[in-house]
Amino acid sequence: MSNLKQDQFVGSLDCGTTSVRFIIFDQYANIVAQHQSEFPQYYPNPGWHEHDAKEIQQVSEECIAEACKNLEQQGWEKSSVKVIGITNQRETTVAWSRSTGKPLCNAIVWTDSRTKNTVAHFEHVLSTTGIEVEDGQFKKGAEGVEALRDITGLKLSTYFSGIKLRWMIDHHDNVRKAHEDDDLLFGTVESWVVYNLTGGAKSGIHVSEVTNASRTLLLNLTTLKWDERLLKFFGFRPSILPKLVSSSEVYGHLAVGPLEGTPIGGLVGDQQGALVGNKCLREGEAKCTYGTGAFLLFCTGKDIVKSGHGLLSTVAYQPGPGLPPVYALEGSIGVAGSAIKWLRDSMGFIKTASEINTLAASVPSTGGVYFVTAFSGLLAPYWDPGAAGLLIGLSSYTTPAHIARATMEANAFQTRAILESMKLDSHTELKHLKVDGGMTNGDVCMEILADIGGFDVVRPEMRESTALGSALLAGSAIRLFGWDISKPETLAEVNTKGSREFNPRLSEQERKKSWTAWLRAVERSKAWEE
Ligand code: G3P
Repeated sequence: MSNLKQDQFVGSLDCGTTSVRFIIFDQYANIVAQHQSEFPQYYPNPGWHEHDAKEIQQVSEECIAEACKNLEQQGWEKSSVKVIGITNQRETTVAWSRSTGKPLCNAIVWTDSRTKNTVAHFEHVLSTTGIEVEDGQFKKGAEGVEALRDITGLKLSTYFSGIKLRWMIDHHDNVRKAHEDDDLLFGTVESWVVYNLTGGAKSGIHVSEVTNASRTLLLNLTTLKWDERLLKFFGFRPSILPKLVSSSEVYGHLAVGPLEGTPIGGLVGDQQGALVGNKCLREGEAKCTYGTGAFLLFCTGKDIVKSGHGLLSTVAYQPGPGLPPVYALEGSIGVAGSAIKWLRDSMGFIKTASEINTLAASVPSTGGVYFVTAFSGLLAPYWDPGAAGLLIGLSSYTTPAHIARATMEANAFQTRAILESMKLDSHTELKHLKVDGGMTNGDVCMEILADIGGFDVVRPEMRESTALGSALLAGSAIRLFGWDISKPETLAEVNTKGSREFNPRLSEQERKKSWTAWLRAVERSKAWEE
């Protein structure tokens, strides 16, 4: 008999854009064990970004196995992990074969902007034929754009999965054939990972969770069902689509690895996961996660708030099957931490990502430099796929330190731009913003954010909010620790370790001056690519 100790823990598999991690939490959100691994990124052409879906799967299994080893080394039985949740990079699109269970091509990553022409094609269809709204009735032009937004909460953009899937069918012969022969399965990353962890082609479960599905351009945001009108508009057969599921329920059990037999009880897109993990579960609460990109989500409760200012309406979470969903407004910034990676790997300004903090802190200002980090166009609230990365204000005085600081400022300016839009859409002014993600480790970055944004920035001590979000949803599904995601009071004891607050120090006049210069820089970066 094993002399390892028994307890109750919840696991969370966080499948991010550049790495996967598996974290095991106790009931207070203390991290008991974890493992993280990076996986390869493929950039076959400018603006293209791919993953090998098999590698995501391998790394996921490796992280679960290594974290479990780590747990046992600390004296705990792995059977202490009672349930796991999965959270994931959203919009990244996987196409695989129903008969073999193998991917038909590389996954197209959310950052990829190769589908500009596909978007242009559907913009043309929307303005000429339009989109069917009721039996035989079409809306076109501006009304068509509005109708699409009413149904999905989204706009036509290279960002969303439906557009990426259309590109795959149009450009990969084997994907087209699989679609014609009804051998194609489509999914976002949670779909793919659950399918494989529960048995793959033999018995794999083909599901899509609603926060992920709400990023496809195929989901009706109000009914939380795949919308036939959208399938017709984009030309997809319904049989390729996964079954829709809520964010908290038991979907199946692990069929591989050391946790075989453990239920999977939570699925959630990573940004919504961070909203839940920050316990921003009530209307008016917001968080921003600074990872590869940055994502600001503002909880709007039971209402879908339509944005008139460049934001998206999205599902924040659905607490269980058949339960009413909670919605959010979202502003996404395409490039955040990836700009720091670029300073490190392509420019050689720093050796490790964390060195950016010392470099940026070595100068008091950017010396007049502004950096519009539009490496694959600009997302919210500007939405310009043709915008180009732009460094402006350079002089012989400029050093890497000024550029490092301007990179941090770029995040802060884009965060402010999104918050200005949220203020207009929700008619509420945010007093403080909860933050997490790799970039928030440096104090200087947080000071810059508070200064440029003009709001208080709250940084929790335990910042694995994304993983915690899926853990809370998974725990809730089996009522582990008495958690119930639809009753926030049941989570009162979770992650109470405290937080640090950064307050704005700049004068209103200085803030206004730099903001005006940023807006001018953005205008210059726009519509550069034809
Ligand atoms: O929408 C894309 C987002 O979900 C990716 O997040 O943390 O993997 O960069 P992250």
